[in-house]
Amino acid sequence: MMILIKNGRVLDPATKTDKMADVLIDGGKIAKIGDKIKAVADEVIDASGCYVMPGFIDLHVHLRDPGFEYKETVETGSKAAARGGFTTILAMPNTKPVVDNPDVVRYVTNKAQDVGLTNVIQAGAVTKGQRGEELSEIEEMVEAGVLALSEDGKTVMDTGLYREAMMLAIKYDIPIMAHCEDATLVRGGVMNEDDNAKRLGMPGITNAVEDIIIARDLLLAKETGVRLHLCHCSTKDGAAMLKAAKEQGLSVTGEVCPHHFTLTSSDIPGDDSNYKMNPPLRTREDVDALIQALSEGTLDVIATDHAPHSFDEKDVSMRRAPFGIVGLETAAALTMTELVDKGHLTPLQMAEKMSYNPAKILGIDRGSLEPGKIADVVIFDPKEAYQIDAARFSSRSKNTPFHGKKVKGCVKATILEGRVVYER
Ligand code: DOR
Ligand code: ZN
Ligand code: ZN
Repeated sequence: MMILIKNGRVLDPATKTDKMADVLIDGGKIAKIGDKIKAVADEVIDASGCYVMPGFIDLHVHLRDPGFEYKETVETGSKAAARGGFTTILAMPNTKPVVDNPDVVRYVTNKAQDVGLTNVIQAGAVTKGQRGEELSEIEEMVEAGVLALSEDGKTVMDTGLYREAMMLAIKYDIPIMAHCEDATLVRGGVMNEDDNAKRLGMPGITNAVEDIIIARDLLLAKETGVRLHLCHCSTKDGAAMLKAAKEQGLSVTGEVCPHHFTLTSSDIPGDDSNYKMNPPLRTREDVDALIQALSEGTLDVIATDHAPHSFDEKDVSMRRAPFGIVGLETAAALTMTELVDKGHLTPLQMAEKMSYNPAKILGIDRGSLEPGKIADVVIFDPKEAYQIDAARFSSRSKNTPFHGKKVKGCVKATILEGRVVYER
């Protein structure tokens, strides 16, 4: 199968390429990048006016399968990924059962292979049942294909146990993806603790809830040398601590979610649970610091924290609704609209944060368009303007605060290992 992508703006952070060119794909690999390639291809895609980037890689997705298939399944989540331009996603382990042993790892990855719409990599839980009491079957999960450990949705509050997990992560050369939240400080909070929480009469979550654990985890990373990745960073001081840790030479990275650079707590219109996520939407000061940190390279990755929940679960007060919003099908447009279009990121940086850097963190040979590499490609029209319509999501869940938002930037086609898996 040969695919020729013509007349696109090719963006490849691996080789710092940003030029108009054609891309030829053959046998699942990138065959050639060049001017006016002549080839008898099975399919020719006209990418005029579009970016041609390595397929996006999302380091933070909740597929909900097994156990919560009414929110999402491997199949619906894979469809949402393909529609969002993602060719690899890292699935979080807070399913039912929790992914704490190799059988559940194989269940998810086999199912994902059968679906065949996106490359699903499973993250293993740090502790059995995410109960924070004893370590999960880490070695066996690594043998089954786990490329990262995470207790996402929770923090391992037993610091000694967490340190033990870090030593194993070093042994197997995988990163720890840290959900930083001091469980003892939350106390029923549902949104950022500020004047907006007062305005809405909602219990608040302070920045210290996140920052205390970021500090702890960075100190542990310094002591152990583990590769530590901070999930969904939302605070100014968190970004500053990450910057300081990088300046000391630690192997630490961090991600930001589109909702955290797009919205502030003052955008919460009322008691609307589509604005409830963990960590919460923060203040303008925090958001500006996150954007600055993305722009200067302190924050390496844009990841969605795609967290589907059913209509009924979310159709209640913020006080009672679960945390989380879907993100796979809005991430690229929000990045384009809020960061690239406003001049905070270059198009090449967009590809770096949505593909190249996540690939490096996972240690996978993807995220680049160099000839010979696996042909994971997204064709993205940066100019197309439209209103986000949750009803059109492929995801089984529609919980988003972005329904109706005017954005620019649309995925035209997603190619996985040389096969078109989505075409608008
Ligand atoms: O908002 C969130 N939802 N944050 C998390 O950390 C977990 C996630 C979920 O699993 O729903
Ligand atoms: Zn989390
Ligand atoms: Zn999460």
